[in-house]
Amino acid sequence: VLVTAGPTWEAIDPVRYIANRSSGKQGFAIAAAAAALGARVTLVAGPVALKTPVGVARIDVESAREMADAVRRAMPADVAVMVAAVADWRPKEYRAEKIKKRGDAPPALMLTENPDILTNVATAQRRPELVIGFAAETENMLEHARAKRKRKGADWIVANDVSGNVMGGDENRVTIISGDGIETLEEMPKAAVAMALMERVAASLRAEAAE
Ligand code: CTP
Repeated sequence: VLVTAGPTWEAIDPVRYIANRSSGKQGFAIAAAAAALGARVTLVAGPVALKTPVGVARIDVESAREMADAVRRAMPADVAVMVAAVADWRPKEYRAEKIKKRGDAPPALMLTENPDILTNVATAQRRPELVIGFAAETENMLEHARAKRKRKGADWIVANDVSGNVMGGDENRVTIISGDGIETLEEMPKAAVAMALMERVAASLRAEAAE
């Protein structure tokens, strides 16, 4: 099982970066749950202050491009769970020296798009049997999550409403969207969300194997 977690940092200059509020807690909990259920787990983690779950092989990365490379190298996998809050954009150019204040005009920050790791995994030649993405939304959660599932070629999308304090918090309320339908779980600790999700993953793999 291959899991991504945490934010990515996109460097502007040696002292500044673009980031987001992801704590990595949900992704780490998923890696821990998969390992507890007996999977061999690789966890590709952005910059977070979390301990490596027992039995998990962890690869630390900083930027989206480093995460994309680490994920490519960690393939093939039977299952990919892409939980990381990958920065959609990075500064177009990295300035090797600290950008200094001069005059009145603040510098313009030109951005360019990062690779979409979930889409890359879902369209890879040796695609995992089950590819799961997350959708962090602040409005029209289901509609956006359904569109994201199609657009990114994921089998399941786990949608969560992040308009409250989910990011960084210890509880989560998620809706799992698959080709077969929608299931909304109660709000519960992120570790319990992780176990519920990985139990469904295990059941789905068993059902596939039985066919
Ligand atoms: N994701 C990824 N690589 C990216 C951006 C996102 O792998 N460069 C993955 C995330 O790990 C998550 C899913 O895609 O599993 C959803 O990411 P999200 O940022 O919500 O989707 P976007 O396509 O960026 O849509 P938007 O920001 O417009 O909501």
